[in-house]
Amino acid sequence: MDNFYVTAALSSRQIKENFDCGKNLLNGYIHKQASQDVRRRISACFILSEEDNLVKGYYTLSSSSIKRDQLPPEVVKRLPGSYIDLPVTLLGRLALDKAHIGQGLGELLLVDALKRAYLASVQSVASMAVVVDPIDQSAIDFYSKYDFIMLPDSHKMFLTMDTVSKLF
Ligand SMILES: CC(C)(COP(=O)(O)OP(=O)(O)OC[C@H]1O[C@@H](n2cnc3c(N)ncnc32)[C@H](O)[C@@H]1OP(=O)(O)O)[C@@H](O)C(=O)NCCC(=O)NCCS
Repeated sequence: MDNFYVTAALSSRQIKENFDCGKNLLNGYIHKQASQDVRRRISACFILSEEDNLVKGYYTLSSSSIKRDQLPPEVVKRLPGSYIDLPVTLLGRLALDKAHIGQGLGELLLVDALKRAYLASVQSVASMAVVVDPIDQSAIDFYSKYDFIMLPDSHKMFLTMDTVSKLF
């Protein structure tokens, strides 16, 4: 597997003001907050764009953890009992501009995010799953299509890094 990504880290080059995915929270985040979060090292933000530098899509990644008792029993039984908090990668946001929806770019963004998370987990910072925080039912449906499962008693969904590793 090579390290080719379709996205680049958010920088001042990209033009994000006109980005519109149809969801105000996700629009507001890239318009106003993403650069600050990157500066404060709260999240890393990756942008899908072309030569015109217009933001077509984006996602964010950060380190996170999940309580052992939030995980399904079939995952827990393979973990040493001493770990109360397990390291995961949070794919906090993922969105595509409305003009580009339905062309396979949503899947491209998701695979790009999973690849970054997986490579970091094997090369630098261990992580046993990718966790997402779906914004609504439509987002739940999207992630379910890629085998993310809902964590009990939580709005979050997750995919084990073992499963992710089989993609690459
Ligand atoms: C979710 C989103 C990224 C999907 O983008 P997209 O361009 O429609 O995705 P793709 O064209 O790559 O579709 C890939 C597959 O997912 C399916 N899909 C797309 N959106 C879906 C949804 N909401 N529910 C179920 N399946 C969905 C497509 O039908 C396609 O399946 P197929 O290959 O079997 O035909 C996009 O709709 C978006 O940005 N929405 C607003 C932001 C959002 O809700 N983000 C979710 C995380 S918070």
